[in-house]
Amino acid sequence: MSNAILSGEGLQKYFQTRRGVIKAVDSVDFVMREGEVLGVVGESGSGKTTLGNMIVGIYPPTAGKVIFKGGDISQGAGHRSLEIKREIQMVFQNPSSSLNPKRSVRQTLEVPLSVHKTASSVGERVSELLSLVELPPEYADRYPEELGGGEKQLVAIARALATNPSLIVLDEPTSALDVSIQAKIIGVLMRLKDRLNLSYMFITHNLSLMRNVADRVMIMYLGKVREVAPTEEFFKNPIHPYTKMLLSSIPVVSDAEEAVKPEKIVSTGEIAGALNLPPGCSFHPRCPFVMEVCKSVDPPLLEVEPEHFCNCHLYPNDYKDKKAPWQ
Ligand SMILES: Nc1ncnc2c1ncn2[C@@H]1O[C@H](COP(=O)(O)OP(=O)(O)O)[C@@H](O)[C@H]1O
Ligand SMILES: [Mg+2]
Repeated sequence: MSNAILSGEGLQKYFQTRRGVIKAVDSVDFVMREGEVLGVVGESGSGKTTLGNMIVGIYPPTAGKVIFKGGDISQGAGHRSLEIKREIQMVFQNPSSSLNPKRSVRQTLEVPLSVHKTASSVGERVSELLSLVELPPEYADRYPEELGGGEKQLVAIARALATNPSLIVLDEPTSALDVSIQAKIIGVLMRLKDRLNLSYMFITHNLSLMRNVADRVMIMYLGKVREVAPTEEFFKNPIHPYTKMLLSSIPVVSDAEEAVKPEKIVSTGEIAGALNLPPGCSFHPRCPFVMEVCKSVDPPLLEVEPEHFCNCHLYPNDYKDKKAPWQ
C-alpha cells in the first residue's frame, strides 16, 4: 500500500503464565497511512495495549513483524536505533502513573530533550512544547501534584512531542479523565496532528468517540482484528456481528443517527477469556448468527467491500481471492 507509515504483519504476542498461554494478540495484520488516525477499538482484554506496546517496542512480538517507514522494527526498544525511538512515541492511559511525581514539568520535558538532542535551546523548547499543548509557560515549574488530570495528560503529550515524532500511539488517552475534560484533550490532540503532520494509532474502548476522530476504525476482539473500514463506511455499513453488537449499545443522539443505527442485537453467551480461547471463531459463543463452521474454523480477514475488511463466516468463499489488508 502506498504512503504506509506503519504496518503489522501476522503480529502475535503470547504470554506464558502459570495458568497457561494467553494469546493477547494473535495474527494481527494492519496498515496505517501517513497522517492518518487509525482508531483501534475493543473491549478490555482485547489486546489493544499489547499491540501498542509492540509498536513502541516495550516488548518484541512472539511472531510477525512491525514495519515502520519500510524498515523492520520488530525488535524491542533496546535494539532499536535512537532515530526510530525518536519517531515513535506513546501516551498512556493514566497520566498520574506515567509522570514522575518528583519531577517538575520542566524536568519531565528535559529528559527526552537531553536523550534525543532535538533542540538547541532546552529552555525555549520547554516553553514551545507547553504552548503546543496549550498550557501556559509558567506550568514548567509545577509538579504533577499541582496539576489536574487533564493538565497532567497534556504534559504527557508534550513529553511525547519533545522528540519530534511522526507516529504517536495514544492508549486510551482520555479514559481516565472526567468527561468534561475529555473533549478538550481530544481537541488539542487533533490540532497537534494537523499542525505537526502526525499519525495516530488511537486506542480506545469508546467507539462513538471514533466517529469524529478516526479516519479508519479497526475493531479488535480477543487478540484478533474483526473488522477494518474507513470511518464513514464503518458506521454506515458495519458487517461483523461483533461490530453490530458494539454499535447497538451506543446511545443515539439524533434522529439521523437513529436511522442508521443497526437493530439491537443481544449477544448470547459469555465473554470468553484470552486464556482459554474457544475453538474456531473465538466470538462464536457470543454470536447471535453462529453456524456449525464457526465452532471449528477460524475465519480469515477478507476484503468484503473496497477498503472494508472483516473476518466472519457470513462472508464465505467468494471473498477468498480478495487482498489481505497490508497488500
Ligand atoms: N504482561 C502480561 N502478562 C500476562 N498477560 C498479559 C500481559 N499483558 C496483557 N496480558 C493479557 O493479555 C490480554 C490482552 O491485554 P491488553 O493488551 O492489556 O488488552 P486491552 O488493552 O485491550 O484491555 C488480557 O487477557 C491480559 O490479561
Ligand atoms: Mg489497554
